[in-house]
Amino acid sequence: MAIRKIREDGDEILRKVCKPIEKMTPRLRTLIDDMYETMYAANGVGLAAPQVGILKRIVVIDVCDGDSYTLINPVIVEADGEQIGEEGCLSLPGLAATVKRPNHVICKAFDEEMNEITVEGEGLLARAICHELDHLEGILYKDKAEDGVYRIDLPNEE
Ligand code: NI
Repeated sequence: MAIRKIREDGDEILRKVCKPIEKMTPRLRTLIDDMYETMYAANGVGLAAPQVGILKRIVVIDVCDGDSYTLINPVIVEADGEQIGEEGCLSLPGLAATVKRPNHVICKAFDEEMNEITVEGEGLLARAICHELDHLEGILYKDKAEDGVYRIDLPNEE
């Protein structure tokens, strides 16, 4: 496993639409392992493949609810409710914004064995699913910010 370089806002790759995965390969398994390692090293709760420069429809999520989710070719099939809260992104370090998201989503995807899975998320997990799936379309949370993006203190700056 290896920590990969996280692409930051301004990098064109973050604005591209990602391609679906047709079959699992050793190379993709390594990518997924590296995505987890990169996300945990950066104290993130989610990471999408384009953030490490790979234009594939893969995201990893761990909102510290006791589970982690590898979502391949994910699609939101149901979304309801509303939550308004602060959101950040590893590709926009030191920044945050208030973003409106559904409070509950149902997402269909494939796992690392390419088995179909359904993940249901509420609150933070719903927010993370929406945020990460946006990355696969080249969308960043700042595009949806209610009142623009603002600076926050990074923990390691304290
Ligand atoms: Ni992000």
